[in-house]
Amino acid sequence: MDSREVIVVTGGKPISGTVHIGGAKNSVLKLMAASVMAQGETRLDNVPLISDVDVMCEVLETIGAKVERGEQRGEGRHTLFIETSDLTSYRTPYELVAKMRASISILGPLITRFGRACVAMPGGCQIGSRGLDMHISSLEALGVQFDMSHGYINATTPNGLIGAEIILDFQSVGATENLMMASVCAKGTTAIHNAACEPEIVDLAEFLNSMGAQIEGAGTPNVIIHGVSELHSTTHKTVGDRIEAGTFLVAGAVTGGPVTVEGVNPDHLGLALKKLHEMGADLVITDNMVTFERTEELRPTDIQTLPHPGFPTDLQAQFMVLASLARGGSIITENVFENRFMFAAELARMGADIRIDGHHALVNGVSHLSGAPVNSTDLRAGAALVIAGLVADGPTCVYSIHHIDRGYEDYVGKLCALGADIERVQAQALSL
Ligand code: UD1
Repeated sequence: MDSREVIVVTGGKPISGTVHIGGAKNSVLKLMAASVMAQGETRLDNVPLISDVDVMCEVLETIGAKVERGEQRGEGRHTLFIETSDLTSYRTPYELVAKMRASISILGPLITRFGRACVAMPGGCQIGSRGLDMHISSLEALGVQFDMSHGYINATTPNGLIGAEIILDFQSVGATENLMMASVCAKGTTAIHNAACEPEIVDLAEFLNSMGAQIEGAGTPNVIIHGVSELHSTTHKTVGDRIEAGTFLVAGAVTGGPVTVEGVNPDHLGLALKKLHEMGADLVITDNMVTFERTEELRPTDIQTLPHPGFPTDLQAQFMVLASLARGGSIITENVFENRFMFAAELARMGADIRIDGHHALVNGVSHLSGAPVNSTDLRAGAALVIAGLVADGPTCVYSIHHIDRGYEDYVGKLCALGADIERVQAQALSL
C-alpha cells in the first residue's frame, strides 16, 4: 500500500451487484489483542486485509507473539494464527501506538497476562482529543496503579486485580473493552454499568467466553464478568463489518443500485437502514444480506450520532454525502467525537452546501456535485469522498488514501466490481 497513491473516480456510472463484507476492523483488532491473555495458539477467521491489522500484528510481534497469515499454512488469506506461549515483553512502543490509536486495546490484555503493562500514550487524532480518562479510572477501580511519565502509561497491580462495580461516564467502546479484558481473570465479580453495546463488544465477549471467561450481558449496558483463574487459546470467526456494509449501501444509494451486501448481520445496521429507508430506499433484508435499491429522488433526513444502537458516528460522513444530494435540508448532529466535521470542507469543495454550527451540520441538498481534488481527513471521510466522486461530474481525485487502507479491504477493487469507474494511480502520474 503506497502512500503516494491516490484514488481517481469518474462519476456518472451506475453501480450494482453484490459485495462480500469482511470481518469488522473494530472487532478484529481487539480479538487480536485479547489473544495474548492465553498461552497457546489462537486462530482467527474472517480477518480483513487492512493496514490496521498489519499494525496490530506488529504490536503483537513486539511483545513476542508469533503471528502467521493463513496462506503461510496453506489456509485462506483471511485467517490469522497467533502463538502467545513465549511472550517476552509488556511494553508497546510509541511508534506503533502513534500509528494506530487502537493499539491502546493491548493495555487490558497485558495487565491480565503480566499483571503490568507499559503502553505509549496515544496523542490526539484528527477526529478529536479522544481521552483515556475512563480507561484509566475504571482500571484503577480493579486495583491497577498507574504512573504516567515520559509519554508512557505504566500500569502495575501490586495487590492483584479485584472485581469491582464500575459506572462509566459515557458508553465508551474502548473503555468497555479494556475493562472487560482486564477483569476476566480478576478475583470475584466485576459489573460494568453504562457499558457500550456495540456488536463488536458482543463479538469480543463471545471470543473471551470461548477462551474460558464468564461474561454475561454483553450487548446491554450492564455487563457482568465473573473472574476465572485462567484462559485458554481458541478459534473464532470475526463478526461482519457493519460499517463497511453501511458504506457500500450508501454507495448504492447515491447511484441508485441495486447493491447487495452479504456477510453482515442486518440487525447490526438497525438505525442506518431506517435512515436509508427514510431517504427513499427500498430494502430487502434476509439473515446475512441486505439489498438496497432507490428509484425515487433522495429525501432529506435528520441524523444524530450516538453510541449503539444509536446512529454510528462511523457512518456520519457517508450519510452526509447522501444528505448533500437530497431534495431539501438535513441536520446532522455529531455527539460522539468533537471534531468529525473536517470532512465537510472537502465535500464543500465538490459543491455541497454545508454549514457547520458547533456539533451540528446543516446540509442543504444540491442538484449535483462536481469532481475535484480532495483530501481524506480520516478513514470514513476518505471512503465518503470516494462515494461523492461516484456521482460527481468529471473526475474526483482523493488524496491521503492510506486512511482508507486502514479499514477497507480492496475498496477500489470492490467498487470496480460493482461497475464504478475507479482506479488507484501514483500521484505523480496525475495530469488533473
Ligand atoms: C471506537 C471505534 C471507532 C468508533 C468509536 C465510537 C475502534 C478501533 N474504534 O473508538 O471507530 O467511532 O468506537 O463508536 O473500535 N472518551 C473519553 N475518555 C475515555 C474514552 C473515550 O473522553 O476514556 C471519549 C472519546 O474522546 C470520544 C468518545 O468518548 O469522544 C467515544 O470514544 P470511544 O467510544 O471510546 O471510541 P473508541 O473506542 O476510541
